[in-house]
Amino acid sequence: MLNPFDIVIFGGGGDLALRKLLPALYRAYQEGNLPEGSRILPTVREQNKQQEFIETAHQALQTHLGKGEYNKKDWQAFSEFLVPVVTNVTEEDDNWDKLRGILDEELQRSRVFYLSLPPAVYGRCCEILSIKGLITEQSRVVVEKPIGYCGESAEEINAKIGEFFQEKQIFRIDHYLGKETVQNLMALRFSNVLFENLWDAKTIDNIQISISETVGLESRAGFYDKAGALRDMVQNHLLQLLCLVAMESPHKLNAHSIRNEKMKVLEALRPLVDEAVDDNVVRGQYVPGELGGKLVPGYLEELGEGSSKTETFVAIRAHIDNWRWSGVPFYLRTGKRMKERCAEIVVEYKPVSHNVYGQAAGTIQPNRLVIRLQPEESIQLTLMSKQLDKLEMQLEPVTLNISLSDKYSNGYHSDAYKRLMLDAAANNPALFIHRDEVRLAWKWIDPIIARWQQKGSPSLYRAGSWGPESADELLEENNHVWFNVGEQA
Ligand code: BG6
Repeated sequence: MLNPFDIVIFGGGGDLALRKLLPALYRAYQEGNLPEGSRILPTVREQNKQQEFIETAHQALQTHLGKGEYNKKDWQAFSEFLVPVVTNVTEEDDNWDKLRGILDEELQRSRVFYLSLPPAVYGRCCEILSIKGLITEQSRVVVEKPIGYCGESAEEINAKIGEFFQEKQIFRIDHYLGKETVQNLMALRFSNVLFENLWDAKTIDNIQISISETVGLESRAGFYDKAGALRDMVQNHLLQLLCLVAMESPHKLNAHSIRNEKMKVLEALRPLVDEAVDDNVVRGQYVPGELGGKLVPGYLEELGEGSSKTETFVAIRAHIDNWRWSGVPFYLRTGKRMKERCAEIVVEYKPVSHNVYGQAAGTIQPNRLVIRLQPEESIQLTLMSKQLDKLEMQLEPVTLNISLSDKYSNGYHSDAYKRLMLDAAANNPALFIHRDEVRLAWKWIDPIIARWQQKGSPSLYRAGSWGPESADELLEENNHVWFNVGEQA
């Protein structure tokens, strides 16, 4: 069991803290994983907000926890952990001395500074933490993705944080890595001989990694219109999933070995530069459409602007130039306001090399493995089988379906942020991103952004669809089709 720790949440009254971080810590409490005596110190900017904060947190939990998770007794006990503090993250005033006074009451304990702030102020916040003497040997700083807006700005931010914290104290979060189902990807690959022996260019035809969302801009117009889907989702979540799918087995399950293997994948990604961007990357933006039986506005209407070239959808055909993956296209796709919310990895195997049954027995479909990460977690393997109720030999696809959501239906609440905050408190960096990974990911993304700045604009797609037609055409060029949840046999 973890020792009691302190976690300071900068931006304590912000969207991320109220929607994700506090519910995650509440869940940790309910499960008995928040050590007695730990302190959660959300920062607010003004004195009056400090008094109101407990009520704000209370309301946030009632709104954002899942069904049956909130109850008054647990809330009352959990609220004892909360110590709201006044701190303006860019002003070097006395409030920081007060914060230090509180933290120094427990000088030896693990101290986590969670920067739930815009990346532009990370550096200044770390600087004041240092000037005011708040950084101890046992301190760690947690920073959110995306780090920067391009490789250069990311390097600047990382260098600035690095002036005050050692690399081993910097925990760069990508909440996808904290999802239990994402970790299960590694378990599936590296504890089953079945998959490990069928995981390369000899047997696999193509791999699709897709994260579709039904939400639109939500309340994040300011951030999103500057970022877009490439920076918001591909640079981090999708590339991390790609690494976990494509990497070699780490020789140990420690941070160093895992990161090394992931970095080899990023290094082997074939660069997409100039015309290669036009040929292999599709960007889209949603226009009004129908979703779940309701009319929904387009991106520009939600934004309240007459024009914007920001992409809300991206599809990429990527290649990893190494022995294992030579010639296998990896299709990456993400979008907002798409038909269904789903994150999944679809592995399409090659056709059998010779059809002994002939055309009369029907088409032999290639095997397909679908690992669904959310909303419900499952693993499906489609195989060919004889139709048993027919005298003649007729083949049909059948699907082995393992529903992990059903298996864990009682009381299991997977929560990536809970997992990652507890890991930061325990000083376990395995599920966090190294500075070099950030650098390599941007190195691949930067030329795509550069090309888009020079040329073209997003293709439009209806809200409630699967994205622009050009994304389908991208796969048709290789005789492939997107696997869309609910639409395939
Ligand atoms: C965040 C992005 O990192 O991930 C959001 O900034 C996106 O735009 C979210 O909606 C998706 O996360 P999840 O866990 O809901 O799939």
